[in-house]
Amino acid sequence: MTETASAVTSLMAAIADVGTDPRRGGYSRPVWSPAEKDLRSWFLQEAHSRGLDTEEDRNGILWAWWDLPAGRRVTSLEASRQGALVTGSHLDSVPGGGAYDGPLGVASALAAVDVLQAREAAGALDRRRPLAVAVFPEEEGSRFGVACLGSRLLAGTIPVERALGLRDAAGITFAEAARAEGLDPAHIGPDPAALARIGQFVELHVEQGRGLNTDEHLSAGAPAIAVGSTILGHGRWRISFHGQGNHAGTTLMSDRCDPMVAAAETVIDVRRLARVQPEARATVGRVEPVPGGTNVIASRVDLWLDVRHPEDEVTAALVEDIWRHAQQAALSEGCTAELTEESLSGTVHFDPQLAASLTEAVRRTAPAAPLLPTGAGHDAGVLAAKVPTGMIYVRNPSGVSHAPEEHVEDDDAVLGVHALADALEDLL
Ligand code: GLV
Ligand code: MN
Ligand code: MN
Ligand code: MN
Repeated sequence: MTETASAVTSLMAAIADVGTDPRRGGYSRPVWSPAEKDLRSWFLQEAHSRGLDTEEDRNGILWAWWDLPAGRRVTSLEASRQGALVTGSHLDSVPGGGAYDGPLGVASALAAVDVLQAREAAGALDRRRPLAVAVFPEEEGSRFGVACLGSRLLAGTIPVERALGLRDAAGITFAEAARAEGLDPAHIGPDPAALARIGQFVELHVEQGRGLNTDEHLSAGAPAIAVGSTILGHGRWRISFHGQGNHAGTTLMSDRCDPMVAAAETVIDVRRLARVQPEARATVGRVEPVPGGTNVIASRVDLWLDVRHPEDEVTAALVEDIWRHAQQAALSEGCTAELTEESLSGTVHFDPQLAASLTEAVRRTAPAAPLLPTGAGHDAGVLAAKVPTGMIYVRNPSGVSHAPEEHVEDDDAVLGVHALADALEDLL
């Protein structure tokens, strides 16, 4: 393996201390936190050191351009960027997340640029178009609640007013946070010109489940790399239970309208109901009691529900069922309940032609690389509605993600860069 591909390991090592979270473990890098901003600066610096031309667009997406040399352009610089090949990922994380979800795709993209620049310098690469590396903000939705917010804004698949009004836990709106980062909220929103610059988008990502770590796949010679086939349809809902806030010591058990009890029953129902559908995943990962005191019966409890299934009708039916049970749980506790859909994305089938091209290229590095579906959402899934997109996954031997145990072996990361560089070269 070449020196240049192994840059991915030094790139990942260089950011290993940024945004560590001693309380939760792992990393907490919400969008525009000091940690995520450090990573954005790191990215820009790394891009500059490779001679890439960087910019931030109106939605806070970072772009780093490896343009065609002036002598090889038949049009203006801007016109030559139409229909470019784009790769990249995100730098934000979930609370207490792993090191690889997002940053691996960005570091691998930079290392793939190294490989391709070396091939071009050696006369072994004759490309017809520019390559850009893109970094999307708020992929996880861990600050403003809607995942892939940057790519949704770019693609125009979220109403702008809704996006601008989203609030973080401190009550700061997306519009306010964006303004504080130098973006103009009046210009946030669908960006057809920027979208037209993406001819195809390829995202490399750590595999987030047991897709490449079954016993068979951990045996010698097993593939460390896969190509994406589909993304499960998924959505997020908030259920708010309203009750009577009261004193923990003076309120008799028979006198309570405790929304925490209704929420707790709902959590159990979510698991029970989801288990009836073999392919369903339903999660309550966040519950917020208001006001949240040990000796206070809550007046309200917000509970966030994440549901995923390959068939969008099944997702809808499951959420409907959960909501019916939640209302029943509220009623029997003398509470009321309210349901808000925060986001919903249908199942994505990646572009078959691009998947075939990626598979052919990736198999030069990993001959048995399979096509894999995933239950994780990605910017590539959002962009798939507008442009051909595809994904390359790198083995995660822990099988754990969105947690500190998420892992990628250095050798596998280097293989991933080779696979990505070959895939990009075929498309350039
Ligand atoms: C984001 O990574 C998600 O799949 O929720
Ligand atoms: Mn990710
Ligand atoms: Mn993630
Ligand atoms: Mn994701």
